Amino acid sequence: MSSIFKSILFFSFVFTFGFPTSSWSLDLNAQFGRSADLLMQNLFRNDIAPGAVIAATSKQNPEYFYHWVRDAGLVLETSLDLYESGRVNSAQKQRLQKFFLDHVLFSQKAQQNSLNAGGLGEPKFFVDAQVYTGPWGRPQNDGPALRSSSLTRVLSIAIRENWPQLEELKKILYQSQLPAQSMLKMDLEYVTKHWHDINVDLWEEVYGHHFYTLMTQRKALLVGSQVAQAFGDPNAAQYYLQQSQRIGQDLNRFWDPNRGYIYATLSYAGTVSKPVTKNARPTNKVLNKSQLDSAIILAVLHSETADDAFSFTDDRVISTFQKLADSFNAIYPINKNTAAAPAWGRYPEDTYDGYQTNSVGNPWVLTTAGAAEYLYRLAMKLRQRNSVTINQYNIDFYTRTAQLPNLQIGKTLVRGTADYNQMLQNMMNEADRYFSRVLLHSHSDGSLSEQINRHTGFMQGATNLSWSHASVITAKLSRDRANSFADLRKSNRGRR
Ligand code: NOJ
Ligand code: NOJ
Repeated sequence: MSSIFKSILFFSFVFTFGFPTSSWSLDLNAQFGRSADLLMQNLFRNDIAPGAVIAATSKQNPEYFYHWVRDAGLVLETSLDLYESGRVNSAQKQRLQKFFLDHVLFSQKAQQNSLNAGGLGEPKFFVDAQVYTGPWGRPQNDGPALRSSSLTRVLSIAIRENWPQLEELKKILYQSQLPAQSMLKMDLEYVTKHWHDINVDLWEEVYGHHFYTLMTQRKALLVGSQVAQAFGDPNAAQYYLQQSQRIGQDLNRFWDPNRGYIYATLSYAGTVSKPVTKNARPTNKVLNKSQLDSAIILAVLHSETADDAFSFTDDRVISTFQKLADSFNAIYPINKNTAAAPAWGRYPEDTYDGYQTNSVGNPWVLTTAGAAEYLYRLAMKLRQRNSVTINQYNIDFYTRTAQLPNLQIGKTLVRGTADYNQMLQNMMNEADRYFSRVLLHSHSDGSLSEQINRHTGFMQGATNLSWSHASVITAKLSRDRANSFADLRKSNRGRR
């Protein structure tokens, strides 16, 4: 279906029923299928080493034909989600399993190579696992954290399914000996020693301490502590746990109760000079940012742990979500079309247009799909709660995003009541409106770039960004999980 036709269909349904209907859902299924195909195409290519993850297919303008540790960790998580989703057939599962094994070996090579360069915080590699040693913002310390958490998941599936390569995998991934030589142990030791360090943020622009990075580090050490325990390394297990708790405490500093949102960066130490110069050092440029950043929501999505710290239902996160929604809604002209929820960018002051840095920023696919995913997963969490009490920080969210009328501070909504159910349904519908925003701007063939032009709504920047497809896949899988609870969808029974 052509994009225009799709939009016309979409609009007509929206105006008739107030929210997208089942034929829109079909488009969502189609986009999910295309994204899964296109992501797989990025993973299985004969011009890259097996197991490498290209950030995007664009070789120039912009140059994204590289393996980024962060993007790779997130794509690995997504392919593991797909593998476990029941949505792939056995042939696809086999291909994915091959990718997981290749990826372990590729990452091991990359990790080893980084030791002879800038260390484990090296963010970017050629598609043959050589370190990209050109000018860049480094180190980026979310890399080792995301790598170890995602590789741990490969290991636990290999154990559960008793893969023939299991013994070899275990050796490569975890041995207690120090200095560390096994992959997880190296990354975990690095995280414990360096989480205090100033480093470059996920957007590769700012030196400082970052909420996103610390969240990934906290999770990595919590997961790592369990791995260490399982591998008979109890002292390490205790140490990793203790460090992860320290990070957990440190994260509280990022919340600003006056502004009502979690800051992206503290101990700001300069920006990566643009254009990046050899041995990039922080410049003295003042941090000209509100610190309001969708990286906070991504941190919550990417670093969920069993102990629920800084998680979906935390009012600090909920408050940040609403500030982001309001801010992006106001600054991007395409959001004047209110048939779908607002497209989100990285942060309001962004000047990277997908090709050049000193330009005007745009909404991104992965942050907009991320907003949808956040709401699906929040609805699932709230469903297990007994009640929600309205306070000064969450009132805007429950009024505007969850669309509950006449709320007052101090009011308590109790699970099982009509109000509470309405709130959950509204949240699911709003999540769908975010998802429909991505569909509205995707290419008719389902390909997705990094950005959405803020004026025209056309795709812009790196083409078929792996992370864009990954964000659609994880949002859709979250939606499916949420939909499997009948009470989250009472008003739309029968809808997929
Ligand atoms: C500037 C962007 O802001 C940053 O996120 C990106 O990684 C680099 N350019 C390289 O494309
Ligand atoms: C720019 C993004 O800011 C960064 O997070 C990402 O790792 C690279 N592009 C590659 O996709």
